Amino acid sequence: MRIFAIETSCDETALSFIEAHGSPETGDFSYTVLGETLLSQAALHAQYGGVFPNLAKREHAKNLTPLLIETLTQAGSLKSKSDLDSKSDFDFETLLEREPELLAQLRVFMPTYGKPDIDALAVTVGPGLEPALWVGINFAKALSLAWDLPIIPVNHMEGHLLMALVQNPSESSKPEKNITPHSESVLPRPGLEQVFPLVALLVSGGHTELILSEQFGSYKILGETRDDAAGECFDKCARIIGLPYPGGPEISKLAAIARSEFLEERISSLPRPMIHEKSYEFSFSGLKTAVRNAWANDTATWESETHKQMAYALEIENAIVEVLVKKTMYAVSESGAVTLVVSGGVSANTHLKETLQQKCVETSIQLLTPTPSLATDNARMIAITGYLHQSETAESNSITAQGQLRLG
Ligand code: KG4
Ligand code: ZN
Repeated sequence: MRIFAIETSCDETALSFIEAHGSPETGDFSYTVLGETLLSQAALHAQYGGVFPNLAKREHAKNLTPLLIETLTQAGSLKSKSDLDSKSDFDFETLLEREPELLAQLRVFMPTYGKPDIDALAVTVGPGLEPALWVGINFAKALSLAWDLPIIPVNHMEGHLLMALVQNPSESSKPEKNITPHSESVLPRPGLEQVFPLVALLVSGGHTELILSEQFGSYKILGETRDDAAGECFDKCARIIGLPYPGGPEISKLAAIARSEFLEERISSLPRPMIHEKSYEFSFSGLKTAVRNAWANDTATWESETHKQMAYALEIENAIVEVLVKKTMYAVSESGAVTLVVSGGVSANTHLKETLQQKCVETSIQLLTPTPSLATDNARMIAITGYLHQSETAESNSITAQGQLRLG
């Protein structure tokens, strides 16, 4: 089955075209990436210190059609329109009345190119920024109308979770953001005998959740953040200490240097919110406030501004990671899980991964994380999730953006 997936929930415009076979339940699932594109808007949002929803929406609308052309070209599926492709005039006006730029581009695209060999579309319907989600959904609806294809609505967080169960061995050493088409993979990862029950820590710019799953497609939220997400905390703390957006990778880079230069204990320790509570809840907004106060009232003499930033970055990373690790390992031990999945943008954090890896070795739990380029937002996870939910197609009219969509 050939699935074409669209992801626009935040500040990444991403498309993925895969061919998948088999089922994870019978252990014979495999897929090939035929074409894949991803355009990050992070640099554009940097000036706002976070994602600006209307800018994200505009950028998605501008980029989707060029990325569609590129993705189909990679797959060898961009064909000129022939007489067999009879329809060429579609009523996109009503569908795309809120996306004039997308409408204008599709008005050129559709009469030029024929229907590619696609069986179904998969699109992220939530959670995420609603204006951004709507662009992807309306794009999917337009393609569905033009090419007469079913649409599978996908939960973005399930995508993050499932991505960790799939490994592409050829990709493990690739640099971040370098997603290559024509690679194959299987799910579950080769060598995995038992995956369930699993606990998943899903940590991104918008979410911090602990999920329990006993089988594919069945999820229970054990706990989540009461306020800021872990990634949001990284981003906001980074901004306070003068680092650009997205702050997670910046803090992580400086913290690694600071750790090797023994800059620990140069500032007084920051709070580890809720770390001693026997619950699966998180709260990160107090940490951000503590960083703001400590930074503003810092009277120490520093060798340089960079040294100061490095010392703060180290303590911020340590505080966030310690809380995440403590709560996660508590969930793993209480639930009897055999697998720990860590996914979402923050799972690209090396210190978090290394600390969890050590804990998992000590407790004989298998730890699964996606390669960094597939831990952050991407459309492959949407394609795979769409394939696994292939029977759950929805009527175009009934598909809406669900900013607060939950798992389970
Ligand atoms: O999953 P994602 O790409 O988008 C959302 O759905 O939010 O996650 C983005 C978040 C940002 O907050 C970013 O700062 C954080 O993931 N992030 C990291 C790292 N790489 C990305 N946080 C800590 N360390 C990293 N290496
Ligand atoms: Zn995400």
